Amino acid sequence: MEVKTSLLDNMIGVGDMVLLEPLSEETFIDNLQKRFSHNEIYTYIGSVVISMNPYRSLPIYTADKVEEYRNRNFYELSPHIYALSDEAYRSLRDQDKDQCILITGESGAGKTEASKLVMSYVAAVCGKGHEVNKVKEQLLQSNPVLEAFGNAKTVRNDNSSRFGKYMDIEFDFKGDPLGGVISNYLLEKSRVVKQPRGERNFHIFYQLLSGASEDMLKKLKLGRDFSKYNYLSLDSATVNGLDDAANFRTVRNAMQIVGFLEDEVQSVLELVAAVLKLGNIEFKPESRANGFDESRVKDKNDLKEMCELLGIEQLVLERAFSFRTVEAKMEKVSTTLNVAQAYYARDALAKNLYSRMFSWLVNRINESIKAKTKARKKVMGVLDIYGFEIFEDNSFEQFIINYCNEKLQQIFIELTLREEQEEYVREGIEWTNIEYFNNAIICELIENNQNGILAMLDEECLRPGTVTDETFLDKLNTVCAEHQHFESRLSKNSKFLTDHSLPHNCFRIQHYAGKVLYQVEGFVDKNNDLLYRDLSQAMYKANHSLMKLLFPEGNPAKVNLKRPPTAGFQFKASVGTLMRNLQTKNPNYIRCIKPNDKKAAQVFSESLVSHQVRYLGLMENVRVRRAGYAFRQAYEPCLERYKMLCKQTWPHWKDLARKGVEVLLKDLKVPEEEFSYGRSKIFIRNPRTLFFLEERRRQCLEDLATLIQKIYRGWKRRTHFLLLKKSQVVVAAWYRRYAQQQKYQKIKSSTIVVQSFIRGWKMQKYFFDLKNTMPSMSPIDKSWPARPFLFLEGTHQQLRSIFHLWRCKQYRDQFTEEKKAIYEEKLEASKLFKDKKALYPSSVGQPFKGDYLDINKNPKYQKLNIVMDEKLLLADVINKVNRANGKGASRIFLLTKKNFVLADQKTGQVKASIPLPDLSSVSVSSHNDGFFGTASAAKGDFLLSSDRLIEIITKLHRTGAASSDREPLSVDISDEFLVQFKQDKVCVKFVQGGPKNGNSVTCKRKNNRLLEVSVPPP
Ligand SMILES: Nc1ncnc2c1ncn2[C@@H]1O[C@H](COP(=O)(O)OP(=O)(O)OP(=O)(O)O)[C@@H](O)[C@H]1O
Ligand SMILES: [Mg+2]
Repeated sequence: MEVKTSLLDNMIGVGDMVLLEPLSEETFIDNLQKRFSHNEIYTYIGSVVISMNPYRSLPIYTADKVEEYRNRNFYELSPHIYALSDEAYRSLRDQDKDQCILITGESGAGKTEASKLVMSYVAAVCGKGHEVNKVKEQLLQSNPVLEAFGNAKTVRNDNSSRFGKYMDIEFDFKGDPLGGVISNYLLEKSRVVKQPRGERNFHIFYQLLSGASEDMLKKLKLGRDFSKYNYLSLDSATVNGLDDAANFRTVRNAMQIVGFLEDEVQSVLELVAAVLKLGNIEFKPESRANGFDESRVKDKNDLKEMCELLGIEQLVLERAFSFRTVEAKMEKVSTTLNVAQAYYARDALAKNLYSRMFSWLVNRINESIKAKTKARKKVMGVLDIYGFEIFEDNSFEQFIINYCNEKLQQIFIELTLREEQEEYVREGIEWTNIEYFNNAIICELIENNQNGILAMLDEECLRPGTVTDETFLDKLNTVCAEHQHFESRLSKNSKFLTDHSLPHNCFRIQHYAGKVLYQVEGFVDKNNDLLYRDLSQAMYKANHSLMKLLFPEGNPAKVNLKRPPTAGFQFKASVGTLMRNLQTKNPNYIRCIKPNDKKAAQVFSESLVSHQVRYLGLMENVRVRRAGYAFRQAYEPCLERYKMLCKQTWPHWKDLARKGVEVLLKDLKVPEEEFSYGRSKIFIRNPRTLFFLEERRRQCLEDLATLIQKIYRGWKRRTHFLLLKKSQVVVAAWYRRYAQQQKYQKIKSSTIVVQSFIRGWKMQKYFFDLKNTMPSMSPIDKSWPARPFLFLEGTHQQLRSIFHLWRCKQYRDQFTEEKKAIYEEKLEASKLFKDKKALYPSSVGQPFKGDYLDINKNPKYQKLNIVMDEKLLLADVINKVNRANGKGASRIFLLTKKNFVLADQKTGQVKASIPLPDLSSVSVSSHNDGFFGTASAAKGDFLLSSDRLIEIITKLHRTGAASSDREPLSVDISDEFLVQFKQDKVCVKFVQGGPKNGNSVTCKRKNNRLLEVSVPPP
């Protein structure tokens, strides 16, 4: 379970000075002391962090601590530099606000350490990844490199920064570091040639001599012994707790990580060695004819080695230490240098060489760590600039450093005190003005373009004629005499005339942090920062990759007669840029306090601390904070942040944001004295109210997260369910189809079974019924029982046809040969006459008896037997039509297989016998008459008539058809035919008789050639 913590938990003293009760300088210092003695080195004044230097390592910077402070509210945990770093980083990352961390305090108060803690915290909490880690590593590793070359042991601090540093760390939109840009301010280069007592030169000299391998030292023509080098003070050459040799390895390693190439490192070390060599060059005077002394190099060995290191022609350098060329318009004048001037030139060269190399180092680091993208960046600037300094002897450097601190105090005042008060006024919040000291007046004294100290100094430096530090002081004494923060013995202000603490060659400034006495000696020179042109030209000619870059003005092709800008002017300009830069960013303050002068742990010097508290304006800071409100925020973001705490404002508030905030606070029952409504912001008096809101919000967020989670889960389940349902419907449809198919098949097969049974049963019934209702066996019986069931249609018809065929067969099977012959004859008759002759139907029912006369039994016809040697086929009485009148005479007609015979009925005498082969055709009418004509070329034609015409002609035809040697008899059916009676051809014509004729057929002779047969109508 998460442990809820607060700044107020287990507090030692008070963690936030705003909560201090009662508030006085005494209670303030007591509170700091109490906390300090419990190792609580950090204390807040609202959002400002006070940091006391513990002078020992405390276990409060572990990875666990980083995690503890990560993403936590500023007031949630006990005060820590990590809380400020986290706040700044998150506000940069989440609210897109560029940040700057302003770390101030005097030398040794812990500014550099604090800046490193901020950087390491940000590096620990920002994004991870191969590229990002590389950038972080390079940013962090730039520190040891710059410290080695720019820090030195001073009486106040064993690792005192001797340059100002401002580093912009750049981040992308996600808050991942992209790179950085470092700006450096005024390296204290005088330290290269001379160090105050108890102090030493920059660390790198000692590190190189202690840590380099023998081999390297040999290459650099150096020896390990510090005492061999004039520029290294032996005084405190070794510092307790500082391992120069180990640090040298660290620096080399850091240079490698930052991206220095091996030969770049080598070049830098050669320059460091060259500076040491330069310091060892000494001069002796040599009298010249003109009575002046000219300087000469005493022992040329160091000069030679230095020239070898830098690839400089020895003679050129040697000459530059003895002569100086002054160019004025077109003229070049060479003057000799005396020994003092030679030493001055040497030191100027050493200082310039070193300081330019330091600037090159910064640029080189910048090149490595610069962001590789052009995308918009968020920036966190960390300012670690030298602290306010009051030494015994304060010179130009201290003046510049303190000026810078004045400017920083200004910006602090600008942004916190003044801005705070002005904001209350702006917002219309009731406010009692808090008096505070505004140091703008001191800044004016120093930087004013007309009569500021820096402007005066520049004016002196540029002025023709004799210019000395004293003339400069005179000028100050005139111009600044009336300024309330300027003090000088010889000023026009008489009140300092008797002030013996003010030496004559000094002036004193009442800085915001205290009075500082400056020795004017060296001001003019340091501001001029002159390097004789002969020297810079000699350096430019060096056969060394770095030297050309460091001394571009030595290029003879680019001789510039204009004076370079003065050191003071440059510094003022860069401080101005820095201030403008800081003003665009959201400031975060770390105010470092030094607890004692002894660099000792757990020693709390009350006077020292109270001095710092006073000049840092911390009391005013607390008062402003307390009189005002701990927290403020514009209504819109405030409502946006807390609107979920009230039902009326959540999720949308349609009215003005301010009204929303009012409703919200009312609803939350926040006591009215705890907040005030400004014009555009809500002001919350006590941080506790803020914690309360934050806590409620956190709880609410949890609930909201649960709600979102719930809805999302619901949605996810529902989508899943709908998918399942859809799939289930598909599966079910398929299954139903399958099941129905199965069922259908089952029903179908059952139906078929049932149907087949029913059909079988019906069939049986059908057959039984059919058996009983069978039609007669007569083949001409057309009847057939009705079909009982439709399905039997085919069978029914089939059976009918089978039955019929069978019945016919049965019928046929019962036939004898004779009967068969009879029927064949009938069939023949049908073929010949059916539908052709009207008489035919009447013949169908009559059996063809053939012998109607019983010839054999009748004795009357005995005579005829002779003729009939053949089997008699037909014997009947017929009429032979007489041609003359058309009347008929009865004749016996006999037919055998070979011929037919006409005989007299009474006598039985044969009248004509016609062999059948002679008979060519028979003609009949289509009517219901018995007339027929036979045609025989040999025997002549006959016109005959018989009621049994059909039988007669059928039999005639059959006999013809039966014999193979004859043509079948042709039977012509026509209502008009010719009969050849002997010579005459007579036409027999059949006409329909009228009704008076009755049913009889009459034949009349119409004329010789025509016999008309009248037939009854049908
Ligand atoms: N937070 C800390 N924990 C432990 N020791 C510290 C801490 N801060 C500072 N110190 C100690 O104090 C010494 C001086 O600190 P630092 O170099 O940061 O001072 P500074 O303010 O930068 O001074 P200067 O203005 O001279 O550069 C450090 O070398 C270190 O020994
Ligand atoms: Mg420092």
